Amino acid sequence: MPAFKIMRLRDYTLTMNKVDYLRISLIDRCNFNCQYCMPSEQEINYILQQNLLTDSELLTLIREVFIPVGFRRFRLTGGEPLLRKGVVEIVKALASLPETQDLSMTTNGFLLANMAQSLYDAGLRRINISLDSLDPDTFDLIVGRRGRNGWAQVWQGIQEAYRVGFDPLKLNVVVIPGINEGEILDLAALTIERKWHVRFIEFMPIGNSQLFAERGWVPSAELRQRIRHKYGLVESSVTGAGPADVYQIPGAKGTLGFISQMSECFCDRCNRMRLSADGWLRPCLLNESGQIDLKTALRAGIKPVELQEKVRQLLAIKPEINFKERFNGTQGGTYTRTMSQIGG
Ligand code: GTP
Ligand code: 5AD
Ligand code: SF4
Repeated sequence: MPAFKIMRLRDYTLTMNKVDYLRISLIDRCNFNCQYCMPSEQEINYILQQNLLTDSELLTLIREVFIPVGFRRFRLTGGEPLLRKGVVEIVKALASLPETQDLSMTTNGFLLANMAQSLYDAGLRRINISLDSLDPDTFDLIVGRRGRNGWAQVWQGIQEAYRVGFDPLKLNVVVIPGINEGEILDLAALTIERKWHVRFIEFMPIGNSQLFAERGWVPSAELRQRIRHKYGLVESSVTGAGPADVYQIPGAKGTLGFISQMSECFCDRCNRMRLSADGWLRPCLLNESGQIDLKTALRAGIKPVELQEKVRQLLAIKPEINFKERFNGTQGGTYTRTMSQIGG
């Protein structure tokens, strides 16, 4: 990722990356209740239907605001994006914009088996699916859907996405000590015979800070050590534009990614912003300052060219808003929106 230094401030080296990647949350609801993603006690205030960006407002913002200021890559997230009515049409509209260079989705995979083909036909080419366990009971425990055959349905969704041709196909594993940590080697082994990208994600205290306080997190370096010991591990020549450090078991068809926000800050290569389902633009996942309400502005009749200017101003100050520290274990956890509402 090309980055050039613009100034040195205290201990930080501020860098300015090309921020051209927008993560678009289509809906804040989810059909799972993953332990790490949602608070266990607190009630979530879901966005009311009338406050969701409509398809047409979303497309106006993309075409007339984000593309003119330079965004070219879009990822659809949620909640669970496949719960959004008309998601296939949204994919089709975004994929058909000549400026779109990359269109992807992050999903829990539960509804994927029946939708993979139509999403692909609509122009989606890459997809990231959460798969935190290979054991159906542990899976149920994590996603909070006991007895509903969730694992089998997600596994079927993954197989179907693979069959249909999604490439790369990435599987996300949030590693939680004492819950799925013991499955790391089995999950890593999925990549030996399959061209899948399994990514191990350090648990961040932004979804469920109580669980985080109880369980803690496992450093990626430790996971790499365990995998190296059993299978060997080399740095991969395939690197992505995202936060993962990519490795490979020697001779494996797929890769292993490590997303290590807890142990090493990757904010200096941050290339993204987030648009919530109710139209707030958020410059940083882990810092809530600087957000702007594009939906209200749009509904108040503010012209897209004026909104472009607001987004440009936010882009200009993003390096100062970017989170620049490692979590120290006590920090974080008090966010207005949970991970499920931001979309990761
Ligand atoms: P690609 O690299 O484009 O495939 O996507 P990604 O890995 O960025 O997206 P995905 O939605 O699969 O996210 C995987 C994990 O990375 C989730 O835990 C996200 O919360 C985390 N993540 C994605 N972007 C950021 C970011 O900008 N900052 C931090 N701290 N975490 C991020
Ligand atoms: N820490 C790290 N990753 C998380 N995700 C959700 N909550 C957390 C958390 N607290 C991941 C999910 C999904 C992606 C969008 O974010 O596994 O793959
Ligand atoms: Fe970007 Fe903020 Fe994530 Fe850092 S924490 S990589 S600045 S979104």
